[in-house]
Amino acid sequence: MKALILSGGKGTRLRPLTYTGAKQLVPVANKPILWYGIEAIAAAGINEIGIVISPETGEEVKAKTGNGSRFGVKITYILQEEPAGLAHAVKVSQSFLQDSPFVLYLGDNLIRDRLQEFLAKFQQQQLNGLILLHEVKNPSAFGVAKIDDRGRLLQLIEKPKDPQSNLALVGVYFFDRTIHQAIAEIKSSPRGELEITDAIQTLIDRQYNVQAMQLSGWWLDTGKKDDLLEANHIVLDDFLETKIAGNVDSDSQIYGRVEVGKGTQLINCTIRGPAIVGENCHLENCFIGPYSSIANDVTLIDTDIDHSVILSGAKIVNIHQRIVDSLIGQRAQLILASKRPKAIRFMIGDDCKIELMS
Ligand code: G1P
Repeated sequence: MKALILSGGKGTRLRPLTYTGAKQLVPVANKPILWYGIEAIAAAGINEIGIVISPETGEEVKAKTGNGSRFGVKITYILQEEPAGLAHAVKVSQSFLQDSPFVLYLGDNLIRDRLQEFLAKFQQQQLNGLILLHEVKNPSAFGVAKIDDRGRLLQLIEKPKDPQSNLALVGVYFFDRTIHQAIAEIKSSPRGELEITDAIQTLIDRQYNVQAMQLSGWWLDTGKKDDLLEANHIVLDDFLETKIAGNVDSDSQIYGRVEVGKGTQLINCTIRGPAIVGENCHLENCFIGPYSSIANDVTLIDTDIDHSVILSGAKIVNIHQRIVDSLIGQRAQLILASKRPKAIRFMIGDDCKIELMS
């Protein structure tokens, strides 16, 4: 059994963050989304992982993630020259996959369920394909499955205008080698991509044994800002444990589950967990509310933050309004020179969004 993780694509829905980096490296609870997938695959006992990368962000993914030794696996990087679809990514990975069965894992998906149970079913029943489903409110944004009253899979349609169910295809699939033949037969979709959904439909049409299972826990597709904040919220809620490695002065207070990384200084701050502060940060006179993730090398002075994600190297000074539901990019600066500024000076990147709430 091998694994193929897709970490290409343009990440248009997460701009501007994805102008400078891969969407799969955006952190959730201070860890790149991609790494949750690698860890889940390693935990299922699969140690040969191919990661499909794009020319734009591939080097960054490689540099950050390495050869897999930190996860106890062997990672092979596979370049997909153009974002021509999920099935296309499988096609360019054939020399890595060969005839092995594999789990296909979309690098921006996070699931609560462990892979072991699904893998066991796939292997014991010698399935040609196993897909995972989850109920969603907006099925038109996903691949959608139609199943009969006995739960048998009838049809899959990619991003249907008029969805036949609310069961979306989760970005984790199990395949044997028959998928390669199916991919060879499909044509590009209206969005110009070779869709894995169409290849699975081809397997179903040819009477191959493809089954579906529903997830019992949450599924997060971290494509957009609010999805990312929700992912951060849920992961902190479920997984965070208290760990204080940094320096917390006697005027600071910490409530609930909070992690503070090494080299970080907290001076006269209050932190209410679940919240995580990375390494080598400087926080002075701040309130950090629940569901906040502050990455490494961040400076926060006289600032209140709640339910937000602050990426590495950012600096926020003197903002007396509470910053809520926000995503602040790497090295971004938000600085108020005085309490009642007469003017505001901006340098805001493309596709940014600033909302001043009343
Ligand atoms: C892809 C698949 C879709 C699936 C989704 C899960 O969509 O094509 O069937 O439901 O991933 O994240 P995309 O992210 O390419 O729009």
